[in-house]
Amino acid sequence: MKLPPFSLVDRVAVVTGGSSGIGRAIVERFVNAGAVVSVFDRCSGDFPAGVDFHEVDVSDEEAVSSALESVKAVYGSLDIMINNAGIQPLGVGFADLTADLMNRTMAVNVNGVAFGIKHAGRLMARGGRIINTGSFVGLTGVPNGSVYATSKAAVIHLTRLAAIELAPRGITANCVCPGTINTPAVTGIPDNPEIPFAESRTPLGRLGEPDEVAAAFHFLASADASYVTGAILSVDGGISAGWERYESVPPSNISGGRWND
Ligand SMILES: NC(=O)c1ccc[n+]([C@@H]2O[C@H](COP(=O)([O-])OP(=O)(O)OC[C@H]3O[C@@H](n4cnc5c(N)ncnc54)[C@H](O)[C@@H]3O)[C@@H](O)[C@H]2O)c1
Repeated sequence: MKLPPFSLVDRVAVVTGGSSGIGRAIVERFVNAGAVVSVFDRCSGDFPAGVDFHEVDVSDEEAVSSALESVKAVYGSLDIMINNAGIQPLGVGFADLTADLMNRTMAVNVNGVAFGIKHAGRLMARGGRIINTGSFVGLTGVPNGSVYATSKAAVIHLTRLAAIELAPRGITANCVCPGTINTPAVTGIPDNPEIPFAESRTPLGRLGEPDEVAAAFHFLASADASYVTGAILSVDGGISAGWERYESVPPSNISGGRWND
């Protein structure tokens, strides 16, 4: 039977951080595309019918490993692993860095993704898809992004390494890098200065919606993305494309784009 484009029928997916924001939108998309979905999160949420929830802290390797084994035991397969759970301590410069903040951010954002790759990779038996959530701040520097941006740069590189290592087993690994997205992590901060900044600096002139990010995960999770691995896909309204303002008024001795002398 030929399935419609982007079908996830007969696929078993795990979404970490699936109780809120981008992860919640991925869950909705995957369910609508026919996947069986399990959420691993610290907190439960309001899920579509049929989705099961595992209380998992992704920084705990044993918890990630045993929850993945239980998904495989219950559903008979593990096909799609979405390593999306993350914490976002922006606004911390080097002067304010503490070992605690660094350790916690790396434990969730980096170790959590690495454990997801390790154990999903171990359990996937008919090829598979691993998709990690990076960030535009993992691609370029931002002031006071020292811990968070570094953790997301690491997620991007973990993705490349996973793509190389798991390719012989038919498992692809890709990374989606969102811009500033309308989720509780952003809108829940009173007077969050990131919002007007993103609205004015993003070429498309607005924040992204969680479902606009989930759409990229949906494509990468599907059979249609069979030749895509190691890719870093920005879904950011263009903010990583470059500066939308650049002072480049030519001096009077320039014409036709060339120096006259
Ligand atoms: N919202 C944005 O603007 C934006 C931009 C770029 C990247 N991201 C990334 O997207 C991902 C999702 O962010 P969001 O904006 O949807 O955030 P969110 O806070 O709405 O959702 C994050 C979810 O992850 C869960 N979580 C956090 N730590 C966890 C842990 N240790 N174990 C298990 N679950 C945990 C939370 O309980 C929550 O349900 C994160 O990795 C974030 O860094 C977000």
